[in-house]
Amino acid sequence: MAAGSEREVFRSELRWAVVAAATVAVIFVAILGAALAFQMNPPSNIEMIDPETLHLSGEFTESNLGTRVEPGGRVVARVVATQFEFMPHCLVVPRGALVTLRFVSPDVIHGILVSGTNVNAMVVPGYVSQVHTTFTRTGDLLMPCHEFCGMGHSQMWATVRVVEARDFKPDRQGRADCAKP
Ligand code: CUA
Repeated sequence: MAAGSEREVFRSELRWAVVAAATVAVIFVAILGAALAFQMNPPSNIEMIDPETLHLSGEFTESNLGTRVEPGGRVVARVVATQFEFMPHCLVVPRGALVTLRFVSPDVIHGILVSGTNVNAMVVPGYVSQVHTTFTRTGDLLMPCHEFCGMGHSQMWATVRVVEARDFKPDRQGRADCAKP
């Protein structure tokens, strides 16, 4: 390197420092924009649950799983993600309504996403993963497990069936499933 190039080196380093800082700034603005414009946020709900006993009593017993219209009118779907299936295997929800999805795992970390929507969350044993969303299109949406959870991971998926609100007919207990939406 030619003598007296120390200043050039300094300038070059400064240029790259500016490029790196600008890149960080762009990424930061993109994250902030996605959060504010598209509601793409990390989960804010911290709710703990004992993975060893969640199936024995309370909210996530087998008879309480699936979609239910709560007394206040809120649509809540409860799902247990376990090696290697979702219980229930199909969820029915009405189009256009605010739906709360609640997931728990009794074994290992799973992940869920609903194709074609911004629903995407990890299901970590010990915590309730909660997502609020409104489905805008009717049809059967694939909900695969997207976190490697063991040998049967690739077979672990469920369906979210979005039906028109007029076709969504919960029973007297407020329950609806894919056999009788
Ligand atoms: Cu559960 Cu992958």
